[in-house]
Amino acid sequence: MSAQTEVSAKKVTVPQIRGHKVGASGKLPLTMVTAYDAPSARIVDRAGAEMILIGDSLAMVVLGYKDTLSVTVDDIAYHTQAVRRADPLALVIADLPWMSYHVSTAETVQNGAKLIRAGAEAVKLEGGAKRVPMIEALVDSEIPVQGHIGLTPQSIRVMGGFLVQGKTEAAAEILLSDAKKLQDAGCFSIVLEGVPAIVAKLVTEALNIPTIGIGAGPNTDGQVLVFHDLLGYGFSRVPKFVRKYAEIGEIAVQAVTSFVSDVRGGTFPSETEGYQDTTGELAKWSERKLDNVTAHPYLVG
Ligand code: KIV
Repeated sequence: MSAQTEVSAKKVTVPQIRGHKVGASGKLPLTMVTAYDAPSARIVDRAGAEMILIGDSLAMVVLGYKDTLSVTVDDIAYHTQAVRRADPLALVIADLPWMSYHVSTAETVQNGAKLIRAGAEAVKLEGGAKRVPMIEALVDSEIPVQGHIGLTPQSIRVMGGFLVQGKTEAAAEILLSDAKKLQDAGCFSIVLEGVPAIVAKLVTEALNIPTIGIGAGPNTDGQVLVFHDLLGYGFSRVPKFVRKYAEIGEIAVQAVTSFVSDVRGGTFPSETEGYQDTTGELAKWSERKLDNVTAHPYLVG
């Protein structure tokens, strides 16, 4: 069963996610979807996903940047507060953005705490072995951490673009070793992004914490997609691993076009789409007012 159905509409917690290995257990894979405001959080929560991620994809799908490097901790905190106001049952995880956990462990903990105070119940950060001191510092400060390895969008300058990772034996070995180090450092789960399915399967089998895949094939303990990508909302190009479950952008354009056309055609608003003078008092008032209107001198004669 999924963590949400297992606990039948109760709050999803970090220990539940940590213990949710699919393998031969008969448990359903976990689901995580990004959300950036109260309505998107309500949608994801009603759909029963176990985790809501305030991803730094915020930069691209909401704020219109070309990559994720421009968002700040304050941006993520602001959107985390909005998600929190929806009071979701899903576990709320907020992304630590680029340069918020790269300078020192002290700064990392302060930034993590800012996101927890904004309403996150855990944070996610990108990178392998070199992030271990930051992860340990966060976990020591009682801040649960989700790791993220493989295609890490905050590293696109170094990677040379949004490119699939772990494609050679050597690269796959590093990925596997990174995953184990993240687990040992205290991560409660790890996102595997943009890696060959066979590598994701092996990493998943080697860990006792769940892996959440995106562009990593079917053999992980869960899947994550970006809200706007899966809804077809925003008219941006999506990676090949995205399945679009709707074309909400097109539906929205049709709806707004109908509004524009109804206003221009005089069919909106109708009588019922407003407030009427039910007692007749205002009709009399309006007549009296009109009686007292003196015509403009230029219009006389
Ligand atoms: O920022 C994000 O949305 C993410 C997911 C794609 C995992 O990191």
